[in-house]
Amino acid sequence: MKKAEDQEKIRQLIRTAMAARKNAYAPYSGFRVGAALETEDGTVYTGANVENASYSATVCAERNAVFHAAACGERRFRAIAIVGGAEEEPRHACSPCGVCRQVLREFCSPKEMRVILARGPEEWREMTLEELLPESFGPENLQVKR
Ligand code: THU
Repeated sequence: MKKAEDQEKIRQLIRTAMAARKNAYAPYSGFRVGAALETEDGTVYTGANVENASYSATVCAERNAVFHAAACGERRFRAIAIVGGAEEEPRHACSPCGVCRQVLREFCSPKEMRVILARGPEEWREMTLEELLPESFGPENLQVKR
């Protein structure tokens, strides 16, 4: 894929994450996050953070996207775009929490998984899951096939 074409696909994934963010339920923190997760065959699943009065039962946008996809039978992911912040238009890129990094690890190869930390479609940074979660523990360590 040409670079320009790839960048446009990333921008589209970010726009999808921004649309998902509109459904965030964050009355406690006011920090709204949206995620768009792409499978190896190009299907996109979304997620938003859903908070809870107990606080501890809150689920992040990234985990919601992974569980949404996994519950639909998906097992291999290649990219995720994340957009979040307390403002209407986020002022910073949002980085996935440690628990979400580990959950993403279950269904991708860390060196290839693209994590797009975005402020919007014109401002983002790309990292691999390996960079965000080095020396990780995954299904291979238990010799489990997915
Ligand atoms: N949150 C996410 O959804 N994803 C992240 O990457 C960071 C944090 C949510 C959890 C909680 O609802 C709120 O943001 C504040 O932590």
